[in-house]
Amino acid sequence: MVFALWSERVKTIQTSDRATSEFDQYAPSYAELLDDPLRNQFARDPLHFHKRKWLLIQELLNRVNLTSTTLKWLDVGCGQGELLKLAGKSFAQAIGCDPSAGMIVSGAPFKMYRQLSPVELPFVDGSVDFVTAVCVYHHVHGIARALLTSEIRRVLRPGGLCCIIEHNPWNPITRAIVQRCPVDVDAELLTAQRSSAFLQASRFEVLSTDYFLYFPERFFNRLGSTERMLRKIPIGGQYALLARAVG
Ligand SMILES: C[S@@+](CC[C@H](N)C(=O)[O-])C[C@H]1O[C@@H](n2cnc3c(N)ncnc32)[C@H](O)[C@@H]1O
Repeated sequence: MVFALWSERVKTIQTSDRATSEFDQYAPSYAELLDDPLRNQFARDPLHFHKRKWLLIQELLNRVNLTSTTLKWLDVGCGQGELLKLAGKSFAQAIGCDPSAGMIVSGAPFKMYRQLSPVELPFVDGSVDFVTAVCVYHHVHGIARALLTSEIRRVLRPGGLCCIIEHNPWNPITRAIVQRCPVDVDAELLTAQRSSAFLQASRFEVLSTDYFLYFPERFFNRLGSTERMLRKIPIGGQYALLARAVG
């Protein structure tokens, strides 16, 4: 029994390891690999997706009366650091980490650390105030999800916040884009309920779930406030969970 559990654990960590080394291969042509006519219909400029996430993150922090300028932020699975470049200067300190050496951009304005294992974060206990993991968990499999979540919990200070942003499997357009995207061959999408469950299992209290990306870029300026009103309807292209480290 113990051996079976142990070998299951090794197998899923190896699968996650393989997924991250695939990102080393994707890295040189990452932008081209994400290119998709459906996705381009939604937003011509890929930066638009990161801007929408940053707008939502600011709103989530405001809701819990926090100001980013007082926080040390860690972006787990930061990839090429797009979100860090956009939002990093609004935090007291901003850093990223990723297991794929290829994805980590050298010379970026924010320090990005290489994770030597997909289930270990290279930081000491309680050393950050705020963690994000954006479009990471659908590349993490089996028991590695729970292990990565406990690592996030470990590096957060007590009461610190974690924001997970993921593709919403209930949105048919999201599913179609993911199905065609070469970078997502290993993707295993998670509903917000599943993400909430593994956060709770790692001693997080889930504070909110917000669905977003209902309207394409060209309508967003006019319909941004309507999108906010729709946030509890679970068909937005992605969702964001905000959770607090407790216990
Ligand atoms: C789709 S990319 C997203 C990158 C970035 N967060 C963004 O939104 O642009 C997924 C990233 O997750 C990273 N990743 C995969 N497994 C991971 C793990 N176990 N821990 C941390 N990052 C992981 C990959 O190396 C890749 O850079």
